Amino acid sequence: MTNQYTGLYNSELPPEGQRQALRDGAVPVTVYGLGKMGLPLAAVYAKTTGNVVGVDIDADVVRMVNDGECHVAKEPGLPELVAEQAGRGALRATTDSVAAAKEGAIHVIIVPTPLTDDHEPDLAAFVAVLDSIAAGLAPGDMVVVECTVPPKTSSELVVPHLEAKSGISRTEFGVAFCPERTSSGRALQDITGSHPKIVGGVDTESTRVASLVYGEITSNEVIAVSDATTAESVKLFEGLYRDVNIALANELARIRDDLGIDVTEAIHAANTQPYCDIHAPGPGVGGHCIPWYPYFITSRVTTDTPLILTAREVNDSMPAFTADTLRTELSHAGRDIETATVAVLGVTYRPGVAETRATPAAGVIDRLTEHGATVLAVDPMLDDDVVASFGATPVSLADLSAHDLDAAVVVTPHEEFDDIDWAAFDDLVVIDGRGTLGDIGHRVYTIGAGPRNTEVRHHD
Ligand SMILES: NC(=O)c1ccc[n+]([C@@H]2O[C@H](COP(=O)([O-])OP(=O)(O)OC[C@H]3O[C@@H](n4cnc5c(N)ncnc54)[C@H](O)[C@@H]3O)[C@@H](O)[C@H]2O)c1
Repeated sequence: MTNQYTGLYNSELPPEGQRQALRDGAVPVTVYGLGKMGLPLAAVYAKTTGNVVGVDIDADVVRMVNDGECHVAKEPGLPELVAEQAGRGALRATTDSVAAAKEGAIHVIIVPTPLTDDHEPDLAAFVAVLDSIAAGLAPGDMVVVECTVPPKTSSELVVPHLEAKSGISRTEFGVAFCPERTSSGRALQDITGSHPKIVGGVDTESTRVASLVYGEITSNEVIAVSDATTAESVKLFEGLYRDVNIALANELARIRDDLGIDVTEAIHAANTQPYCDIHAPGPGVGGHCIPWYPYFITSRVTTDTPLILTAREVNDSMPAFTADTLRTELSHAGRDIETATVAVLGVTYRPGVAETRATPAAGVIDRLTEHGATVLAVDPMLDDDVVASFGATPVSLADLSAHDLDAAVVVTPHEEFDDIDWAAFDDLVVIDGRGTLGDIGHRVYTIGAGPRNTEVRHHD
């Protein structure tokens, strides 16, 4: 691709000329991070602009993208789109982030922003990308932050960092936060239009450029909020709302035995009122969004946030509650957890996704082990060594019935579990973490709904 640099920040072209330049590939785009979300985003940018360089520190990822291959699994349409865009030269990849930064007029950042064990946002990868961008920044460039960051990151970290390291005045480049509001498994449809796109710049020109760019990317509405901090907060509030709401559902599930009702039935009925939208209870909240983002806020404010922290506590307590409920149910069935062999079904945090970050299965396995149980675990999405790293003995789904189980805990209901032949087991006690089991002919306690089939007892 020839160097046809056209920066959009402070551009003197009329808006339609800017849009045309973007569509013509005259505004080179660099996307930093080609992971589960970065690769779909880079591919959509490539389809829209015809001129994208993707940067990743993983040489295998870079090689695959350059070969037109897709390393992200279970993302409908993505392999075809990557092959098509790489094939026509619209999507290239490199590990050389500084060279890519020199090429780019729009810099899109979508690298991991995890949480440390001390509940602090870890911005190391993010800052490494900023350093590369600073080394290649030019007046007129636009920096778009898509990965989730704590409030004020764009205005108080990105802008001063880039200004200091590049020597270019903050009045000559733009910065906007434009959150990724995408779910794994539906990335392309989400990026191109499932939800309105939120954009918020550090100044009005940044907001204008971000709105113009995403007007080309999405078929949905672009909502320009007042500033970058507002946009950063929007993304965090979405996760926070779900965390607090799930905590409410989980607390209701915990009082279910006192009430003696099926709490999930009550929730469903309550939700028929339009202002009520209580989420589903479960064995805990996992992944790298909902359990982490509350701390992105609490770590950055001085005001007390008791509700946010209590919601975290309630959700973090659910794996232990799940294991303790099994102990109680075993005891009701006249058995002791210390001598029980228990299969944990599902180690990933979500069905159908090979992702274990912050998975509640870890806490369930730990607590069962503390109680003295022998813990096996099954996960069709994961290799045995990954399952074993959680402290359980890995077992394949095909071999499950060969084990003399006393109990099972469904933490994450992968669709493969629909094929389990429950009749092959004798006298099981089962905890149904997500309410997905029908009548399986064993004693089952569903989180929220409570016990059923309590009369099922075969032999001692
Ligand atoms: N996965 C989701 O469902 C989701 C949804 C919404 C938002 N997000 C946001 O997007 C971010 C990225 O998520 P993901 O699922 O794509 O992560 P991921 O772990 O799948 O991919 C991250 C990629 O970034 C690369 N990388 C790491 N450091 C780098 C660096 N310094 N320079 C260039 N590349 C680097 C990694 O090699 C990897 O390929 C998350 O941290 C989150 O803030 C993710």
